[in-house]
Amino acid sequence: MASPHPPPPPRGQWPGLFIAFEGGDGSGKSVQARALYRRLRRLGLDVGLVAEPGGTPLGRCVRALVTGQDGLALVPRSPQVTSAAGEQLASERIQLPLAPAAELFLFAASRAQLVADVIKPRLERGGIILADRYAPSTLAYQGYGRGLPKALVRRVNELATAGIWPDLIVLLDVPVAVSRRRQQRRGKSSDRFEREALKFHRRVQRGYLAMAAHDPERWAILPGDRPRKEIGGAIWKLVSRLLLKHRPQLAASLRPDEGGPPAPGQRGRRSHAQGHNLKLDL
Ligand code: TYD
Repeated sequence: MASPHPPPPPRGQWPGLFIAFEGGDGSGKSVQARALYRRLRRLGLDVGLVAEPGGTPLGRCVRALVTGQDGLALVPRSPQVTSAAGEQLASERIQLPLAPAAELFLFAASRAQLVADVIKPRLERGGIILADRYAPSTLAYQGYGRGLPKALVRRVNELATAGIWPDLIVLLDVPVAVSRRRQQRRGKSSDRFEREALKFHRRVQRGYLAMAAHDPERWAILPGDRPRKEIGGAIWKLVSRLLLKHRPQLAASLRPDEGGPPAPGQRGRRSHAQGHNLKLDL
């Protein structure tokens, strides 16, 4: 029988650095991705932040489609539209349920364009990419969440990513009940999140944890319900360590207090060989 988890993809051969943020809806990953982006920018590093679906004109169209109230939201040519069932739809938007496979291909289309236009070129020229969601979202939501065959979702991911896989994936893990409360506070309760059963989100969360357990060198699990600054500090430790270990040419611009190499005469303060699970460091 085929292993449920194929071997993790190899570390990237490009000169840049690729970091992805993952987690359920309302896990705080977007806040942390933006904070890290600002920090790296302040250091003068060449860094780009992308959010999926999105980041290209095609990606923005996909976002508009998949975040429609009830699946696929289309804007009809005329306000008087007839649905497949024959009744008149008074609304300006027709809302059609989106088949899981169609949803998979929409996310994959957005990602393929983003990889080709934005991610690959920046990594090849030695820049840093921060991605607010990437291919693991598709395995978590469409594979574990919707129940599409995981092997197929992996194949689609392989095609869409052109084999480009993050050097580090930060998983912000929060209990589903906490995510839901956060979404409701932000007034996002009527969107995608609220439409799905709690069971769906628990499957997504389990999926993320299974992926992380299978590739612990690449994934870091952080408790997303800790204070924002504390999580930001833990992420910075991971990122500066990664820069030093794998991209010393980029780390050269970090000061020692930013996690950069010690000044001449100063003894090295950190072990670079530690694993990525910072749960214990918090
Ligand atoms: P996003 O806007 O990042 O939502 P949030 O900020 O709440 O995390 O993502 C939009 C939704 O799209 C989110 O519910 C997760 C979902 N999604 C998938 O189902 N599959 C995917 O491949 C991606 C990238 C997102």
